[in-house]
Amino acid sequence: MTGLPWDASYHDGPAPWDTGRPQPAVVLVASEGGFAGPVLDAGCGTGENALHVASLGLPVLGVDVAETALATARAKAAARGIEVEFAAADALQLKPLGRMFETVLDCGLFHTFDGGERPGYVASLASVTEHGGTLYVLCFSDEGLDTGPHPVSQEQLRAAFSTGAGWSIAAIKPNRVQTRYHGDAGAPAWLATIKRT
Ligand SMILES: C[S@@+](CC[C@H](N)C(=O)[O-])C[C@H]1O[C@@H](n2cnc3c(N)ncnc32)[C@H](O)[C@@H]1O
Repeated sequence: MTGLPWDASYHDGPAPWDTGRPQPAVVLVASEGGFAGPVLDAGCGTGENALHVASLGLPVLGVDVAETALATARAKAAARGIEVEFAAADALQLKPLGRMFETVLDCGLFHTFDGGERPGYVASLASVTEHGGTLYVLCFSDEGLDTGPHPVSQEQLRAAFSTGAGWSIAAIKPNRVQTRYHGDAGAPAWLATIKRT
């Protein structure tokens, strides 16, 4: 687990990606009925996306390696009176959770893994996603101005979530990811909708 370096990102004020709000792309997907429970938020950070989906009445588990982020997420849930579960888990090893999910959200995690780590991550996601279930990946894209760190190409997404790995890409559309440094306009992103076959 790579928890300690990640945890440090949460020690001195909000992390660069931690806007204190759910990502607009996630809010839109949710408003269109794109989430069905149970839902997993992989690399949930301080939980804004998980909290938003849970506030709609869906059972949600958010996992992260950063205990400080999880503590913040749990405090927000308590303060807002939202029922949601946050647990420490390595997204590269999700099978030991012993749980299956109808919808999985990856907001900003995929693009942090290097090419060598991606096959293991994709297999880990497959091990906890119901057949016919949906995975949403919101990641920095390599197209456009002022891209975020570790931008990903459409081709890299298609290579990672291949048929052979148990996935079928339904759509990859341009979107935006808000950060504390890109303002409300956000950075160029892909929103990939991927079905577990
Ligand atoms: C860029 S942040 C995005 C956080 C959150 N999804 C959001 O949108 O604010 C990536 C998150 O993934 C977590 N993370 C990194 N590697 C992980 C791993 N192997 N397993 C679980 N979480 C991980 C980090 O601690 C961090 O909270």
